Formats: sequence, C-alpha cells, structure tokens
Amino acid sequence: MRVAISILLGLVIGIIGTVSVMNTLHERNPLPHAVMSVMAHHVGALHTAVRAQRCDAVQARQHLTRLLETQADISEAFPGVDQPFLDEAAKLHDKTQAALLAAPANCPALAAAVKPIDEVCQSCHQQYR
Ligand code: HEC
Repeated sequence: MRVAISILLGLVIGIIGTVSVMNTLHERNPLPHAVMSVMAHHVGALHTAVRAQRCDAVQARQHLTRLLETQADISEAFPGVDQPFLDEAAKLHDKTQAALLAAPANCPALAAAVKPIDEVCQSCHQQYR
C-alpha cells in the first residue's frame, strides 16, 4: 500500500513538474529561446572547428567560456521548473567547466571535451523539449 502511494505521489509530482515546464514554455518569454540559441551558437562553433580540423585553443576557450556564462541564465529563463530540470542544468555546468579545465588544444581533445556537453543537451531535450 505504501509503495502504491509513493508511486502515485511520484507520478503526480512528475505531472505537475511537466505541466509547469510546459506552461513556462508557452508564455511569450523570449529568454528561453535566447539562452538556448546562444548556447547552440557556441557549441556549433566548436563542432564546426572539429569538422574543419581547425581547433584553436584560444577560440575553444572563448566559446566554452561563453557557453558557461550563458547557461548561468537557464534557471532564470525557466522559472518554476522541477528539480530534475535544475539537475540537468547543473550537470551541463559541470561538464562545461570540465571541458574548460581540460583546455583542449587539438581536435581530438576538443571533440572529447564537447561530447559530454552534447550528451547533457540531448538528455535534457529528450525530457523537456
Ligand atoms: C536543463 C535542460 C536543458 C539543457 C541542459 C539544454 N537545453 Fe536546450 N532546450 C531546453 C528546453 C526546455 C527547450 C525548449 C525551449 C522553448 O521551446 O522555449 C530547449 C530548446 C533548445 C533549442 C531551440 C531553441 C528555440 O527556441 O528555437 C536549442 C537550439 C537548444 N535548446 C540548444 C541547447 C544546447 C546547444 C544545449 C547544450 C549546450 C542545451 N540546449 C541544453 C532545455 C535544455
């Protein structure tokens, strides 16, 4: 019985969380779009560098720094989201910081540094986008 109640409670909390994210997305707030677009720009620039085999340490650092700064606005852009959403945002912060600390100076290093970042983007989008 207790297990059933916990499961039910979990479901209800999950639904409330999803509805609150959906509501946030449907308000005409330009910030979510802006934050995501700026992040996509910087991640895109890093992918382009890897594809073109032109990986410059200074440029990589600039894009990773801007990515890190921009994602600090995620929680402000999505007010009222649930904890798992904020956990994904925190994970993105950790992976981006790790990439920055790795200071990738060539393409294999840059590709390896960006991969965990891509994975967090995808993981959050699968759940919330
Ligand atoms: C914490 C969750 C989360 C993380 C992490 C996340 N996103 Fe998003 N992203 C969203 C949500 C939610 C939307 C839908 C926003 C909307 O429709 O307003 C979205 C939408 C987008 C869009 C479409 C924006 C638009 O309005 O056209 C792009 C591009 C995007 N994300 C890029 C990224 C990139 C690149 C990363 C990783 C660096 C990333 N996102 C990480 C939650 C996340």
